[in-house]
Amino acid sequence: MKRILSGMRPTGKLHIGHYVGALENWVALQDEFENYHLIADYHVLTTGLDMSNVYNDTIEMMIDWIAVGLDPEKSPMFRQSKIKQHAELHLIFSMLISVDRLQRNPTLKDQIRDLNIENLSYGHLGYPVLQAADILLYKGNYVPVGEDQLPHIEITREIARRFNSNFGEVFPEPEPKLTHFPRLAGLDGNAKMSKSLGNTILLSDDLEAIKQKIRKAVTDPLKVRKGDPGRPEVCVIYSYHKKFNPADVPEISTNCQSGALGCVDCKTRCTNKIYEYLAPTLECRKELEAKPEYILDCLRSGEEKALQIATDTMNEVHEKMKIG
Ligand code: TRP
Repeated sequence: MKRILSGMRPTGKLHIGHYVGALENWVALQDEFENYHLIADYHVLTTGLDMSNVYNDTIEMMIDWIAVGLDPEKSPMFRQSKIKQHAELHLIFSMLISVDRLQRNPTLKDQIRDLNIENLSYGHLGYPVLQAADILLYKGNYVPVGEDQLPHIEITREIARRFNSNFGEVFPEPEPKLTHFPRLAGLDGNAKMSKSLGNTILLSDDLEAIKQKIRKAVTDPLKVRKGDPGRPEVCVIYSYHKKFNPADVPEISTNCQSGALGCVDCKTRCTNKIYEYLAPTLECRKELEAKPEYILDCLRSGEEKALQIATDTMNEVHEKMKIG
């Protein structure tokens, strides 16, 4: 069976952008493939050295993963830092790619700009090299991620080719698997929903929280009151309807443009649809929050399974490299 490897940095409670951009896909694919899901805690260090929240953020993320429907039996979940082979394979891979190639990575360039990074660390430059180790250690065939990760997957493929042609065939060349809905805009109109931009709806938000957030969301600035003709294509709320309320989209589009539908009503409908979508997750989240031991058990069993595969792969690597 083909294998999926995907991961996220533990950044605490996840938002609906994570769901739409990645998690929904992970859940949908878990019967068709063998799945492994990584909590990229070492990668957290690339953007800041404060690790004080990493443990709590890991647990919160696990809760969200399981609450949206990832089954810990079918989809083992594990921490990168618990499987030492990530660090070892990263070291080997770091010799297989040039500094110049890593500096040309557009995702890195965006991050340097967005986060105002002045002194790029050696490790941050190597972010995709560690990610390549994450994927290839498990011989992942497919990597379901958002669009912004495509450059990292390309680097992973280059590293796999380089290793295989130098030392002998060990690694598959993984392919990305994008969701049909790769990006969700932020509540403020920003193209990306992101924790650091403070424009998110969390998977753990209740109806009241969603209502408040949607109420403040930006719409078409030219539509000031009901009756004004709106431009759905520039409106964040309309983009949410497309995802969470597709059946009503033609009617909403017509009535927004004619002015018959005002933003207040349109937002109420949007709130209800998002809540409907999230209600089962919220319910499951509550149950999981009451069972911290269960979450730790899931991690332990995921890490056991991951370690087994990582050990096998590294044995092969050592053998091919004649260092075993
Ligand atoms: N870079 C990914 C992100 O920022 C996280 C990640 C780390 C990852 N290792 C991975 C994703 C391996 C897929 C596969 O979201």
